[in-house]
Amino acid sequence: MKFGILTSGGDCSGLNAVIRAICLYIDQNVKNAEIVGIPDGYGGLIRGESFPLCRENYEDIIGIGGTILRTSRQPFKQMTVSENGATRLGRMCENYKKMGLDCLFTLGGAGTHKTAALLSMEGCNVVGLPKTIDNDIYGTDVTFGFQTAVEVATEAIDRVRTTAESHSRTMLIEIMGNKAGWLTLHAGIAAGADMILIPEIPFSVDAVCEFVSQQRRKGKNSTVIAVAEGALLADEAKFKKSERVFVRTERGETTVTAHLAEVLQQRTGYETRSSVLGYLQRGGTPCAYDRVLSTRLGSFAANLACGGKFGVTAAVSGSRITFNALTDVAGKYKLVPPAGEIVAAAKSIGIHFGI
Ligand code: F6P
Repeated sequence: MKFGILTSGGDCSGLNAVIRAICLYIDQNVKNAEIVGIPDGYGGLIRGESFPLCRENYEDIIGIGGTILRTSRQPFKQMTVSENGATRLGRMCENYKKMGLDCLFTLGGAGTHKTAALLSMEGCNVVGLPKTIDNDIYGTDVTFGFQTAVEVATEAIDRVRTTAESHSRTMLIEIMGNKAGWLTLHAGIAAGADMILIPEIPFSVDAVCEFVSQQRRKGKNSTVIAVAEGALLADEAKFKKSERVFVRTERGETTVTAHLAEVLQQRTGYETRSSVLGYLQRGGTPCAYDRVLSTRLGSFAANLACGGKFGVTAAVSGSRITFNALTDVAGKYKLVPPAGEIVAAAKSIGIHFGI
């Protein structure tokens, strides 16, 4: 059997650990197997590029961040647009056949899964794996890469707290997550943030200012606010995304964090600073949890493929590894339920959500 592997979308810790687990499983369990890496995500498949993966490539990569296959973002919307007489989807299917693949493993997030579902519907044998620091893939309790990012963001908030306390400041720390606030929610709780602002719970500036002022009146000299990259003002939430983007572009901003810091300083009178954590959350070595999860998911996915089970993506359900149909997952997101147990637990100990 010939297997292809690609990593697509934003990188995260754990990609190499999954690649390793898939390869080691195949090496251990399939006679005369051939494994190729496809570079730059779907980009490599569109161009028809691949290279052999040998034991020395993957044996010792469990602790290495990023992806040895490299990655790229290939917008889903462009997959079916005709260019020079062919679509990208058509080229990928053609190259899948030319490469003689019996199975393609696609490691990626929500966008990657949409394209994987398309490839599968076109007759390619695809097995997906749920990757993203955002933890927003539908149908899985957790994605690999998430926990490492939570650890990094938690440490960052811990560090921001000591400088906030030393200077009696309000500190906003922006954490990745455009649609989903899982990372901000988990890191915010873990680091004891005073307030957590996530896209799923649009906030009111009045409520944020009142909370900060109230904390000071109670004698607290600093406030730490974990802000998701996609956090929204309640007023912004009423508008379409394109209108929101327009207003923010006019202000020279892509996220709400810097604007909120400015308003908070003006309205509360307390010194306010913001810090954007950015790509630090995606890079670097995976934590032990992600290494174990990646190993479980990778070996499970390889086992599915060897058993001829395609058109599916590996998933975590409670303490079990399972799978979902790609078509059931494609186009859906798993967002933080505003009335869910984790938000309720945070609220019950006084963490404010800006409403
Ligand atoms: O991979 C997920 C993610 O890190 C999001 O949290 C973030 O919004 C986005 O990717 C950033 O994308 P890019 O790498 O294209 O800047």
